[in-house]
Amino acid sequence: MDTITFIRPDDWHLHLRDGAAMASVVNDSARQFARAIVMPNLQPPVTTVAAAEAYRDRILAALNPALDFDPLMTLYLTDDTSAVEIARAAASPVVHAVKLYPAGATTHSDQGVTDLSRVTEALEAMQEHGLPLLVHGEATGEDIDVFDREQVFIEQRLQPLLRDFPALRIVFEHITTADAVDFVRDNDPERLAATITPHHLLINRNALFRGGLNPHHYCLPVAKRERHRQALLAAATGTPRRFFAGTDSAPHARGAKESACGCAGIYSAHAAIELYATAFEQAGDFTHFETFMSTAGPAFYRLPVNSATVTLRRDSWTVPDTLPFGDGEELVPFMAGQVLHWKLQQESRQ
Ligand code: NCD
Ligand code: ZN
Repeated sequence: MDTITFIRPDDWHLHLRDGAAMASVVNDSARQFARAIVMPNLQPPVTTVAAAEAYRDRILAALNPALDFDPLMTLYLTDDTSAVEIARAAASPVVHAVKLYPAGATTHSDQGVTDLSRVTEALEAMQEHGLPLLVHGEATGEDIDVFDREQVFIEQRLQPLLRDFPALRIVFEHITTADAVDFVRDNDPERLAATITPHHLLINRNALFRGGLNPHHYCLPVAKRERHRQALLAAATGTPRRFFAGTDSAPHARGAKESACGCAGIYSAHAAIELYATAFEQAGDFTHFETFMSTAGPAFYRLPVNSATVTLRRDSWTVPDTLPFGDGEELVPFMAGQVLHWKLQQESRQ
């Protein structure tokens, strides 16, 4: 098999940043994906429909006009999010979900939710209006081991959320463990789905420490043991509909990563589809590639499947060492300097 033609995919979890940084990354995503769920963790966070609309306009203004790309906006849930704002979001054609960051869990999460009991009104409004909740599934707390945060989140937060809000629809974002895979499989596919990133399919936690400390492999949730990576690969390639592509591509300037306190986030938008194909090839099974990339996401979000197609061709190419980023800075993309064996054909039909 030397080419794969499939329905144009969407990225169900993407960080585009803002300003000059956004302008330097947005077309990487737009070149490959028809739509993307755009994360709201700007500074300050996107907490209102008005702010989401304004952010969307800035994204559209930075787009290469030759590319067809629809940014699907999200709101950042805070302790103060009102039921009225949720109703406004549900009525807005541009807002598609609300993101829960437990306070302190990751980059720019300091204004996140401090306690789920504070957002009852907003969650009730979301289930009433059918607006999905996207969860950064990591429990916070100094006493919780960083590698256990996803399992603890499942027990302490996700199970209670599903029980207490029986009509709430949830996407468990960027899952990293076999426990999360099992939990998603054991729940109602109408109510719970999960995104999986290309980097969690391709690296385990050894990659953080191979030959020394590797800050460009640091993201949150942090990569786990090999057995967890194998479980993610099996989920992505084997269980249609519950699991779909969400890159969590999260660019940071090189200096912010290569620092005494390096930021969490891996940039994968430069080669997202090729990276997913690399993972599926490792598993040796492309049977459900199109479902994972292009149809399971729209089904969960109740959006139409794209009509265009794209083609991947077997072709070796080297990922650049760095890419320009923002005002005169650079970033180090995932798999920098390494050879990939699939290439997206650029003359794809739009
Ligand atoms: C993300 C970022 O940099 O915004 N970082 C990351 O490691 N994934 C935040 C997030 O999604 O956790
Ligand atoms: Zn993210």
